[in-house]
Amino acid sequence: MAATVSETLLDWYDTHARDLPWRARPGTPAPDPYRVWLSEVMLQQTTVAAVKPYFEAFTTRWPDVSSLAAAPEEDIMAAWAGLGYYSRARNLVKCAAAVAQRGGFPETEEGLRDLPGLGPYTAAAIAAIAFGERAVVVDANVERVVARLFAIEDPLPGARKAIRVAADAITPDRRAGDFAQAMMDLGATICTSRDPKCLLCPLTQSCEARAAGDPARLPLKARK
Ligand code: ADE
Ligand code: SF4
Repeated sequence: MAATVSETLLDWYDTHARDLPWRARPGTPAPDPYRVWLSEVMLQQTTVAAVKPYFEAFTTRWPDVSSLAAAPEEDIMAAWAGLGYYSRARNLVKCAAAVAQRGGFPETEEGLRDLPGLGPYTAAAIAAIAFGERAVVVDANVERVVARLFAIEDPLPGARKAIRVAADAITPDRRAGDFAQAMMDLGATICTSRDPKCLLCPLTQSCEARAAGDPARLPLKARK
């Protein structure tokens, strides 16, 4: 039987995953939810390269959620300076207080969604990456890869629903967190916005946009 998209992508991830400081270390079973949460908040509107030094500085100074929750807000805001989108830092402070108060992160997507200052994307990402739940994780990179794999011709943002349904259909029951991060890595390094490198792509055989000939066209964007 032919390998599924998720099997092919997970095989690729096993040899090509980017080595990022918030991911599980070899020999450790799962990444720390605190590190996953902090990295996902920092990565929301900021590139991996810009986030790395901030992530290292934060986790050195505040190695767990209780130390972050105990820190004066102005220290956190000062440490955040340069990352931009300061509402993220204010939400970080709120969320850290709630998590410390309840003695740790909720371990399900549903529970995570109830935390203050934590959106649906972040809840899905933490549930999948830190807790192994089969959550469907869709960021802008994943959106682009899925729109191309299935040649979804509706423009964004209207196509979001169809993209989510397609992403759900290819999300595996096991290793959903690795699958999500593999989609992100593929989108960041190979299935890039302007110049997708289809010859290097592990999914080239099953990609409808590639078969149609001009994948860089997708996803379409509605005129503003
Ligand atoms: N962008 C957002 N979350 C990410 C992650 N876990 N790995 C790589 N890029 C990301
Ligand atoms: Fe993206 Fe090309 Fe891979 Fe399709 S084959 S997912 S367009 S890089």
